[in-house]
Amino acid sequence: MELKLVASNNTNLLPKTEAPTPVIDIARGVSHDLCNVLCWMNGYLQELREYCGPEGLPLIKEIVQASSEIEQLTKQLSQVGRPQLDDPKKSINMGELLLQQAEFVGNLYPDITINLNIDTVSTVVGHEDKMKRVMQNLLLNACDAMQQNGTIELGAKKIDGSTVHCWISDDGYGMSKTIQDRAFDRYFTTKGNKGTGIGLANVKQIVEEHDGNVSLTSVVDKGTTFDLYLPFKNANVSCTA
Ligand SMILES: Nc1ncnc2c1ncn2[C@@H]1O[C@H](COP(=O)(O)OP(=O)(O)OP(=O)(O)O)[C@@H](O)[C@H]1O
Ligand SMILES: [Mg+2]
Repeated sequence: MELKLVASNNTNLLPKTEAPTPVIDIARGVSHDLCNVLCWMNGYLQELREYCGPEGLPLIKEIVQASSEIEQLTKQLSQVGRPQLDDPKKSINMGELLLQQAEFVGNLYPDITINLNIDTVSTVVGHEDKMKRVMQNLLLNACDAMQQNGTIELGAKKIDGSTVHCWISDDGYGMSKTIQDRAFDRYFTTKGNKGTGIGLANVKQIVEEHDGNVSLTSVVDKGTTFDLYLPFKNANVSCTA
């Protein structure tokens, strides 16, 4: 049998290549370069394991964990402009998640006191990486708002049978009414070049993606509380929701 190669104009058979916009180009370029830097950093971290004593190992573990979170974010950046990858939801114990974040802040800012008020049945269903980012943003804001030795309270409680209430309170410099009204606006910041104003906008977006809501109360020179309300899901419930 003779096979003939037939030239075809049918470009539908080829994978579609989108024309990247300048923003997509920048996002993918940054993602690519960050991946390379992370690769070097992880290599050096492996070496460092051999040099540091047992007291240094838990800190290295924290850096490795942070590095893998950056890697996840970098992967997301490389997907800008492409169809979303399937990121499955799972059961998240908000109490445990807050505990992890409290340890992280405790290592970073040893002078800050952290009080925990955590209920072990405070489970929700969602994207754990995103929920972590919510708490990290709120915690870093709380730390920014405090002088060296303030107090943060972290709480997670199941309320009224169907809702998980999480809160983060600080006794920092607080917000005026004008700042409170704009705090969740994307790109609103009072931190000059040190802030981007993206943190709270992302917090709101992620919480709403999880069918929850977030609000704040604040008094100048007294402190600020962020309250998050998320739908409670029993840990035994299947996580395809
Ligand atoms: N806990 C807090 N105490 C006092 N002010 C706060 C607190 N959290 C947020 N704010 C105010 O809300 C603004 C917006 O916060 P957001 O997290 O969105 O941006 P940012 O912290 O300025 O920058 P970044 O993008 O680095 O997070 C802050 O600049 C600050 O004025
Ligand atoms: Mg912030």
